[in-house]
Amino acid sequence: MKNILVIGATGQIGSELTMELRKRYGNDNVVAGYISGAEPKGELKESGPAEIVDVTDASNIENVVKKYQIDTIYNLAALLSVVAEAKPLLAWKIGIDGLWNVLEVAREHKCAVFTPSSIGSFGANTPHVKTPQDTIQRPQTIYGISKVTTELLSDYYYTKYGVDTRSVRFPGIISNITPPGGGTTDYAVDIYYAAVKGQTFICPIAQGTLMDMMYMPDALNAAINLMEADPEKLVHRNAFNITAMSFDPEIIYHSILRHYPDFKMIYDVDPLKQRIANSWPDSLDDSCARKEWGWKPEYDLERMTKDMIDKLSIRLKK
Ligand code: SER
Repeated sequence: MKNILVIGATGQIGSELTMELRKRYGNDNVVAGYISGAEPKGELKESGPAEIVDVTDASNIENVVKKYQIDTIYNLAALLSVVAEAKPLLAWKIGIDGLWNVLEVAREHKCAVFTPSSIGSFGANTPHVKTPQDTIQRPQTIYGISKVTTELLSDYYYTKYGVDTRSVRFPGIISNITPPGGGTTDYAVDIYYAAVKGQTFICPIAQGTLMDMMYMPDALNAAINLMEADPEKLVHRNAFNITAMSFDPEIIYHSILRHYPDFKMIYDVDPLKQRIANSWPDSLDDSCARKEWGWKPEYDLERMTKDMIDKLSIRLKK
């Protein structure tokens, strides 16, 4: 990776991935691609190049790839699971029509491509405990359908055209800089903001609903380390199961209680979010990622909770 384009650079993952890539590969070598209305701000804006990159516009992507001689594209443009249910056509247009554009430009200009998949690529009839790498994927959400298609199309471009596509199935990503928008796992971010602000948390997911989760620094390492991995060792490509922890609302609530003993949580279950959460795994088996490219998370729940609270306490008091 020498010249990198991040598409969706102002989103939850993109805003932190762009900064991490700039730290590792040089500020000038990482272009922040954003859409009009989601302009980069602050450090993200000041630290390196930025360009409008609309994933639904192939010539726009191609012009930026040519201008900066891009060799690696992180394609993070997507609608999350809940918002995608409200706008299925738009979710497909961004997730799949957009992916075709990225893959075609990558084929022409010999770029490697990372397009994340998700725990959302699994469905109700997938084995839920220790979900294997290769298993049933029959999701019923448009988000899940577009993620399975992303995996298949990315593999297709690798086998048919030799485009170096690689991906992971991200679990819920917990972070404290840019909030996620419209996902099923967002509650696990929102709960920390409520705790630090001294508010009662209204939980939209029912007690006992287990989902895989991960702290942002591990997610960034996963995305970068996979793209740096020795291709000879990769048996799989699109996409690897990865996880760092699995919890339900009670477990994360109790980890926060240790820091804020008066923190209160009440349940007001959102039927759509709950239906989606019920269809996703309780816990993933990520042994293929560990074996093929050395995946290993650094943060467990306790360590993440401490770091989230430390960081948010500083930021929210400013
Ligand atoms: N975090 C995503 C969502 O909840 C799952 O990949 O939609």
